[in-house]
Amino acid sequence: MSFVERLACSRCGTKYEPAENPVMCRKKDLGRLDVVYNYDEVSKRFNRRNLGSRESRDIWRYEELLPVSSGFAVRLGEGGTPLVHAQRLGAKLGMKKLYLKDDTRNPTASFKDRAMAVGSAKAVELKKRDVAIASSGNAAASLAAYSAGAGMRCHAFVPPDASAGKIAQLLLYGASITKCAQVKKGEDATVQAMLDAVDRFGYYPCPSFGPFNPYQVEGPKTIVYELYEQSGWEGSDAILVPTGSGCLLTGIWKGLRDLRELDLIRAYPRIVAVQPAGNRALVSAIQKGTPFEKIVPEPYPASVAGGLLDPYPWDGDAAMAGVRSTNGTGISVSDRDILRSVRELAAFEGIFAEPSGAAGLAGLQKVLEAGAIDRDERVVVLVTGSGLKEPDRVIEMFEGRNAGGVKRGSRNQP
Ligand SMILES: Cc1ncc(COP(=O)(O)O)c(C=O)c1O
Ligand SMILES: [Zn+2]
Repeated sequence: MSFVERLACSRCGTKYEPAENPVMCRKKDLGRLDVVYNYDEVSKRFNRRNLGSRESRDIWRYEELLPVSSGFAVRLGEGGTPLVHAQRLGAKLGMKKLYLKDDTRNPTASFKDRAMAVGSAKAVELKKRDVAIASSGNAAASLAAYSAGAGMRCHAFVPPDASAGKIAQLLLYGASITKCAQVKKGEDATVQAMLDAVDRFGYYPCPSFGPFNPYQVEGPKTIVYELYEQSGWEGSDAILVPTGSGCLLTGIWKGLRDLRELDLIRAYPRIVAVQPAGNRALVSAIQKGTPFEKIVPEPYPASVAGGLLDPYPWDGDAAMAGVRSTNGTGISVSDRDILRSVRELAAFEGIFAEPSGAAGLAGLQKVLEAGAIDRDERVVVLVTGSGLKEPDRVIEMFEGRNAGGVKRGSRNQP
């Protein structure tokens, strides 16, 4: 049973009936079709007590707030990831209440499984045979896994330098892989190639940004529900979110609003968007107060955080609203800071993250220094992707290149 009431375009407001199953706004205005639920109906069965007695640990635990029935889903164990009390890292930073949401522990080793589980279930419901995605690798690898499980063909459009780990996943899950040109003058060739294929061959678009698939925000929002359940509904004062397209952050904001609508929480944690210095269009706009419509894509994005290199923040409108409404902020971090965070997550907490997945921690260190977060606050850092996808980075660090503060031959000491 679905509790979706309607979908509404984020740009022009056009409303769609759920039965229409729209994917993009018919006005082709790059608006995202936001999914609106009937909260009165949802609230009859979705409450703290009732949630506590549920057995499933995956994202389908929250089925009333998902736009598709679990009956269509391939279930690989997405979601239900640990919230780790980071005591050693916290001590180093002078914090007692630092928590890491370890989303490296998803079936294909990134948070994207939350989004792709939902997107692929919708494709199954609609009896699609072919799905298409533009991605630097994590989202594509994830969609490929769910497509394999559902017997769909996955067509992945990736940048030329997608990491070996992510390409290996795509190969093994049986995706067709098209390597596209590098981003040039802010144009993302992977997105263009995906849209062309959707037009020409009728593939179902399932990239991990909202304007080309409405369901991508809905999976990641389950992180928020888990954070509240795992903290005994205490939540946190701030959440740090590694950000590329802004879809994950939009999901965090949506999850918070869902819980507020249901009267399950009263206040919001501050959301902090973290981008690499070499691709920070969204964070700059947040810092300068530039309206979303005026954001220009980063012409030549560059960073060790390959998952955060979307030149344009497709979901930046909602991401900016989330940051603003929660009194949050945006921060950019250098590659050196990111690599130091990769190292610290492993050395202090035993978590092996890829650079994109560790950027949230780098952001925390900067906002602590800037005084935007107090050290006695309760803080959650999202750790979004596994280091096993990019082991070369680690080898490089220890060989002295891209050192991130690590000297050649230095022992694995924090
Ligand atoms: C590991 C990892 N973290 C964070 C992100 C950022 O997510 P979004 O593009 O939704 O902002 C990505 C996106 O690819 C990613 O791969
Ligand atoms: Zn529209």
